[in-house]
Amino acid sequence: MKVNQSRFASGLVSQVRSLLAGQQDMIANAANLAALLFHELEDVNWVGFYFLKDGQLIVGPFQGRPACASIPLGSGVCGTAAVTQQIQRVRDVHEFDGHIACDVNSRSEIVIPLIRNGKVLGVLDLDSPSPGRFKADDQALLSEIAGIYLKSID
Ligand code: SME
Repeated sequence: MKVNQSRFASGLVSQVRSLLAGQQDMIANAANLAALLFHELEDVNWVGFYFLKDGQLIVGPFQGRPACASIPLGSGVCGTAAVTQQIQRVRDVHEFDGHIACDVNSRSEIVIPLIRNGKVLGVLDLDSPSPGRFKADDQALLSEIAGIYLKSID
C-alpha cells in the first residue's frame, strides 16, 4: 500500500471508530457508516447494508439510488456472500453470473458478509461505476471497518 493510501485508510478507520462509539443500535450505526463511506470513498455509486430476515436479505440503510428491497439467499453477489460467508470482490459485474442490477451504472462490486457468532447477520455492499474499482487494499480496509461495525452493535 502506498503511503498516501495507508494514511487515508488509517484516517478512515479512526473516523469509523469515533462515529460508531457510544451507540449500539444496529440501524443507527449502519446508517451513519453507509453515509460516511459513500462520502469518503472515491468512485462509488452505492454503499449500504442488507440484513438477513426470514431467509432473505432485506435492504437496510444505504446511500445511492433506490435498490432491490429483497434478495434471496444465494442470489446475486450479495446472496452469494451471505451463503458462502466469503467476501465477493467482483471486477466486472457483467461477468458475474446472476448479478442483480439495481443501478445500471454499477460496474464493479464488493460485498462483505457480516458474521456474528458464526451466523450471517447481513452484508455490507459497495458498488462502483468503474470496472476493477475495488482492490485487495480496499477489501482489507472494508473488512476491518465491517469488524468495527459488528463490535459496535455487540
Ligand atoms: N448487485 C447486488 C444487488 C444489490 S445492489 O448492488 C445495491 C447483487 O448482485 O447482489
